[in-house]
Amino acid sequence: MPIPQSFLDDLKQRSDIGTVISGYAALRRQGRTSKCLCPFHSEKTPSMVIYHENQSFYCFGCGAGGDVISFIMRIENLGYIEALRFLAERAGMELPEEEREDPILRIRPVIYEINRLAARFYHDCLKSEAGAPAREYFASRGLSSKTITKYGLGFAPPGWSNLRDHLRKKGFTDEQMLQAAVVVRGKNNSCYDAFRNRVMFPIIDLRKNVIGFGGRVLDDSKPKYLNSSDTPVFKKSQNLFSLNYAKGKTDRRLILAEGYMDVISVNQAGFENVVATLGTSLTAEQSRLMAQYADEVIIAYDSDGAGRAATSRAVGLLEAVGIKTRILNMKGAKDPDEYIKKFGAQRFKLLLEDAGSVTEYQLSVIRAKYDLDTIDQKSAYANEAAKYLATIQNPIERELYAGSVAQDTGVPAGTILTRVADIRKRMSRQAQKKEWSDIQQGKSNLPAGVSGTRSIGAVQAEESIIAGLFRHPDEADKLREQLTAEDFVTEEGKAVFGIIIEKLQQNSSVSLSDLPADLTREQMDYASRCYARQQGMELSLQVMTDCVRALKEYKRKESLKSVTQSDEEAIRMAELIRSRKK
Ligand code: CTP
Ligand code: MN
Repeated sequence: MPIPQSFLDDLKQRSDIGTVISGYAALRRQGRTSKCLCPFHSEKTPSMVIYHENQSFYCFGCGAGGDVISFIMRIENLGYIEALRFLAERAGMELPEEEREDPILRIRPVIYEINRLAARFYHDCLKSEAGAPAREYFASRGLSSKTITKYGLGFAPPGWSNLRDHLRKKGFTDEQMLQAAVVVRGKNNSCYDAFRNRVMFPIIDLRKNVIGFGGRVLDDSKPKYLNSSDTPVFKKSQNLFSLNYAKGKTDRRLILAEGYMDVISVNQAGFENVVATLGTSLTAEQSRLMAQYADEVIIAYDSDGAGRAATSRAVGLLEAVGIKTRILNMKGAKDPDEYIKKFGAQRFKLLLEDAGSVTEYQLSVIRAKYDLDTIDQKSAYANEAAKYLATIQNPIERELYAGSVAQDTGVPAGTILTRVADIRKRMSRQAQKKEWSDIQQGKSNLPAGVSGTRSIGAVQAEESIIAGLFRHPDEADKLREQLTAEDFVTEEGKAVFGIIIEKLQQNSSVSLSDLPADLTREQMDYASRCYARQQGMELSLQVMTDCVRALKEYKRKESLKSVTQSDEEAIRMAELIRSRKK
């Protein structure tokens, strides 16, 4: 189903890469390029560059690159057609008719409808006679009927086919129910209900569609929670529970909890700006989603070890997208739900106001491990705290927190800071060592399949040739006399060179954004890297010819090397045989 070129041209025309990317990151324009913090990896200084003249981007940090379509595919986690649709919607265009026949797109409205009916069904079951145990369960967890209605909570009755039979009667096929993941296929090929004897939490998106479900057992059996598997309308990693309610209440501040029950309790207690992930740990996509609604996130994870580890991870992800984090320091309860039940909404409010920086939180976690009444323990605490302080980049912050460790231990702040400085020196030596060994092993940002310092020159030569072709397509014929795709060192180089030559032979233009849709992500990254790294370099035919020569020379040496190696091998074998003969 090819998309008409005229449509693609029009779409690209209306989807300026700078404007599109500025919806995800703050751009700083510098002449013909812009820079921003790369949304595809965590960083503090911008290493993504946007090239306005050819509508491409490249991140010098993580190597992600491409045109506006590949940017959207990557950041929204969409396929090619879906990305086109996304951009088209944004530009107020419609995809050509035939594309709407895509089966994935046709099934979506069906799945929404199945989910809506399933949620209705579960909710009705909750209110029915059979729902008594589930109603009791929710009551035991302190949920009011208002809350139950607000969240559309429900009950999946015991039995293997209640929902399936209900949906069949409404005219849906088992195949459609499978696609919505409300049923599962059994061994004998028949389908049975995915959720049985569980209280149900519908997951609702910002357009008020039911996109999936979480279900909890009513007792202590396992697994405690079950979540819908991913479907064409539901990606766990990209949605947040209760964002539909939190969205309008944020004041640019969100509370991030661990689970459904925490969110509902906190919401019921009057704090509606609360969300949770959906049975997985926080993802980069979810962080970006939160960044659209909040500048600050208070992390309210469980107070156990797992919760603390998840907290550190979440802090990194959130700060990477520019969100300020504070951490709820809960004592006397394992999670916000339990805390509110035990101490009430008012105390929870104080806890929120009291939430400190991640540094305060980490230090208090470390401090809690030691009994500060003994000298040994004080010194162990001071040492562990110093190790942690050494990871803080801001020297003022290091001083301030060293002061608080000094207060806890009686060790002078100066002594602690000296220790911190020693650790930092050691860390930086180790980092340098690692960087150097990465370079030597060819790990630092080299394409797959290339290793060793010797190859770097060849890789650069090959990048120059590709970049040269982008800049001077008219020289392609002369280059083609000199080399073929096989002369390239990297797989990506071979492929991209081949594609460019083919395009030129068809008299198509070869700007980065004209590369065909079936380029793999690695090939797209590669093409953008060639373009980006050769900015401002001279790329005349002479330079390209020199690069071809360098590439061939490298290849010749490589093949010599392998010949010598196998010769040596042969001699050793011969000697071995001779020695055996004697
Ligand atoms: N979770 C899951 N599968 C499990 C356990 C947990 O997907 N087997 C997810 C759920 O999204 C749940 C969240 O992790 O909401 C938090 O789990 P946990 O801390 O175990 O549950 P609580 O929120 O404390 O649940 P409850 O209070 O209902 O026991
Ligand atoms: Mn709980």
